[in-house]
Amino acid sequence: MPRTEEKYIVALDIGTSKVCVLVGEVNDRGQLEIIGKGTSPMKGTRRGNIINLDQAIDAVKKAVDEAEVMAGLQIESVFVGIAGDHIRSVNSRGVVSVMGRHKEIAREDIERVIEASKSINIPTELELLHVIPREFVVDGQDGIHDPLGMTAARLEANVHIVTGARTHNQNVLTCVNKAGIAVQEIVLEQLAAAEAVLTHDEREMGVLLMDIGAGTTDYAVFLEGNVVHTNVLPVGAGHFTSDISVVLRTPMEDAERIKRRYGCALGSLVTEDDPIEVPTVGGRAPKILSKHELTNILEPRAAEIAKLVYRDLEKVGLDKEIRSGVVLVGGGAEMEGMVEMVEQVFNQQARKGTPRGFGGLADTVAGPEWAATAGLLLWGFRSQAKVRKRPVKGLAKVAQSFRQWFATSQ
Ligand SMILES: Nc1ncnc2c1ncn2[C@@H]1O[C@H](COP(=O)(O)OP(=O)(O)OP(=O)(O)O)[C@@H](O)[C@H]1O
Ligand SMILES: [Mg+2]
Repeated sequence: MPRTEEKYIVALDIGTSKVCVLVGEVNDRGQLEIIGKGTSPMKGTRRGNIINLDQAIDAVKKAVDEAEVMAGLQIESVFVGIAGDHIRSVNSRGVVSVMGRHKEIAREDIERVIEASKSINIPTELELLHVIPREFVVDGQDGIHDPLGMTAARLEANVHIVTGARTHNQNVLTCVNKAGIAVQEIVLEQLAAAEAVLTHDEREMGVLLMDIGAGTTDYAVFLEGNVVHTNVLPVGAGHFTSDISVVLRTPMEDAERIKRRYGCALGSLVTEDDPIEVPTVGGRAPKILSKHELTNILEPRAAEIAKLVYRDLEKVGLDKEIRSGVVLVGGGAEMEGMVEMVEQVFNQQARKGTPRGFGGLADTVAGPEWAATAGLLLWGFRSQAKVRKRPVKGLAKVAQSFRQWFATSQ
């Protein structure tokens, strides 16, 4: 049973197009209920990177205020998502000999082998965000998930290491802290999203999770239950909007509206051909466009996103491993035909991922756009997050969170 102060968990996603906040409460049955939600449009980031700190702080404050009012509590600390084209990940391996007299693997051996797996050359401008054990190898026997208590002379760990640019991570921390909030943990967004939308079987059989956000497409491959590959493509659903705006010479706001209302990623799906009215700049008369013509603008970009991700999986030898297919999240997954485009390029089944596993206001996050924030909440839930009701905001708290975060990230 959670203690009162462990009852609340808050997730914060600073996206390219908007900031999202969710507040969760653990109920008496130990389930997570969503009790608050806040959003605010974002202009201070590009491709997942903060480019205007003041605007980003403002957007975080607005979204947090909205969620505080709805949940009826003051938010003290958050689990914050990180994404962007500065993220790099590699697989690494550590080896140690088992210490104890009876060669029984103890917790310290596991900690040492994970420590050993971190000793790769990381450029000074990058820092570790996650070190995720994929499997342990015990005296040559691979595929072991929990080696604690087993008897062996040699223990190996295969891990997935995620790094982020030091400056960018610092900007995220500064942004959240300047909004008066401490950071409990920084979590890679696609790993968070996976918590909310993937099934156990999908992770076991092999699955690709693709988060098509406004600025980037973040993705992760899971195999035998664990993450084995993560990467970021600096192209996202925002590019559909700019393509429409450039080709049709229409303002961005109109391009965005047309994309959401009529946009389709795959020409072969377009049957009706009702005319679409496109406003132009400079007071000229609106243009008339058919849905086919609109799809001709969008299809190459949708194919580009799917093909670039597919080629990357081919390069790392994972294209044949995603036996349960592809799960699409992020706002871009909402575009008609995107699922079908991905199915065509990957020659695999694909589906939209909708957050699951919540009570309370779960219906308000029942769309792929909410996967990352909802997943952060589940990640926090699983890490037994602590957000106290009516806490004191202040520098001491912020400094403490810095230490907390650095402690876990090194
Ligand atoms: N129905 C729709 N059709 C097409 N695009 C859509 C639709 N709904 C939302 N989008 C697009 O999805 C994007 C927003 O998605 P999301 O909220 O996942 O992005 P973000 O988290 O702000 O960005 P990022 O993850 O890149 O930092 C916008 O480009 C928006 O236009
Ligand atoms: Mg996003």
